[in-house]
Amino acid sequence: MKVTNRDSIFIAVILIIVLTLVLGAKERTTKAVPDDATHKQVTSREACMSCHSAEGIHPQPMGHPKANQCFQCHKQPEHWVGPSK
Ligand code: HEC
Ligand code: HEC
Repeated sequence: MKVTNRDSIFIAVILIIVLTLVLGAKERTTKAVPDDATHKQVTSREACMSCHSAEGIHPQPMGHPKANQCFQCHKQPEHWVGPSK
């Protein structure tokens, strides 16, 4: 196969995208759950959602994932007392 100039530009672009994704995935960019009195105690999604649903005092942003495992993305507070979830 003959590699043309265009091909190498294409390959370079792909490499840059892959690299960005790989390096970016290393670090959690999602905000951690605050390490405060409220957040140390909640143990269920229902409890979280009582404040973070659309009607709550601090709603999740528009288009937030519908996933249930909050701690999969939002790091648990350091002094968490409940069971891991
Ligand atoms: C009693 C109400 C209440 C409950 C229950 C609650 N939160 Fe919060 N949460 C808040 C408020 C108010 C804020 C914004 C102010 C702050 O940072 O403390 C907040 C902020 C956050 C933030 C954003 C932090 C930031 O840096 O902006 C995340 C993430 C979060 N909560 C996740 C959770 C999860 C996960 C649960 C369940 C385990 C939960 N919250 C339960 C009231 C609550
Ligand atoms: C699949 C990953 C994922 C899961 C699971 C998840 N979130 Fe989020 N959440 C995000 C992302 C991404 C953002 C927006 C960007 C950021 O917070 O850094 C966000 C933002 C938020 C915010 C707004 C933070 C702020 O003040 O800016 C709150 C509150 C929140 N999530 C609560 C929850 C709760 C409660 C649950 C569990 C029911 C949950 N999240 C589960 C990914 C997730």
